[in-house]
This record gives sequence, structure tokens and C-alpha cells, in this order.
Amino acid sequence: MQSKVGYLIHFDPIVDDRGSLIALEASKNIPFEIKRVYYLFSTDTTSIRGLHSHKKLNQVMIAMHGSCVVTLDDGKTKTEYLLDSPNQGLFIGNNIWREMKEFSPESVITVIASDYYDESDYIRDYNEFMKLVETHGEKK
Ligand code: TYD
Repeated sequence: MQSKVGYLIHFDPIVDDRGSLIALEASKNIPFEIKRVYYLFSTDTTSIRGLHSHKKLNQVMIAMHGSCVVTLDDGKTKTEYLLDSPNQGLFIGNNIWREMKEFSPESVITVIASDYYDESDYIRDYNEFMKLVETHGEKK
């Protein structure tokens, strides 16, 4: 059981005098089979993105360039993460509400996802999210 909401994964760079290289591999340093990769760029620095949870999807979010602040919420606990290095990824499991803000100018945020895009996997209403996680809690 993770005590925190989400967790950071450290990626070990391969460094030589030319620079650094990181490889992301399914079911190795990314803890699922990768089906999709997308990235956020040209982001308005004042915008707030995310504002949803997923029923099944798992994701790892990486600030490839620049930074942003991600708040994760499991319905009980909120944890804030500053993503500011390509050396780390934030694992975000299913049934976690996420909000992303404070994008630095020219940030590039990459998301590795466990499945294809499917709008029916999204919950975009916070009250609906709370109802769902409360129901899950009662079943335990
Ligand atoms: P959205 O999920 O609102 O982005 P964010 O959570 O980062 O704020 O997605 C924005 C739009 O892009 C929305 O119309 C859905 C679409 N979209 C795709 O078509 N494919 C994808 O893989 C993703 C993530 C979004």
C-alpha cells in the first residue's frame, strides 16, 4: 500500500561527456505496459489542467523540460509535487484526482499511459469522483 497519493520514480541517467540519456521501458522503470505517450507544450503558464480522475488508467508524468506543480488527491489526502527534472516521473494511479498548475514558460510535460485515449474512462466531476472513492472505501 502506498501511504502517499502517487509516488516519484527516479530514472538513472546514463551520463558521459556528451550529455545524459534516460530510457523508459515498459514493466521496468515504467510500472505497466505502455500504450500511449502524449505531451503538453506551449502551455499558458496561468492555466490549470487535469481536473479529472481515471477509472482504470495508470500514468507516469515527467517534466522533460521546465516544471509544473501537480496536486494529487485520493479523496482523503492531497499531496503536492513539483515536477522539475527529466530524472524523475510521478506515478499517478487510477481513481486519483489530479490538477496541474504553475507551468514554467516553455515547459514540456510528457505523460506515459497504460492505455489508449478513452473519454469514458474519465471522471471530470469532482463530486462524482468523491462518491466513487467513498463507495470504494466502504467495500474494503
Ligand atoms: P484533457 O484530458 O482535458 O487534458 P488535461 O487533462 O491535460 O487538461 O484533454 C484535452 C483534449 O485532448 C480533450 O479534448 C481530449 C483530447 N485528448 C485526446 O484526444 N487524446 C489524448 O490522449 C488526451 C490525453 C487528450
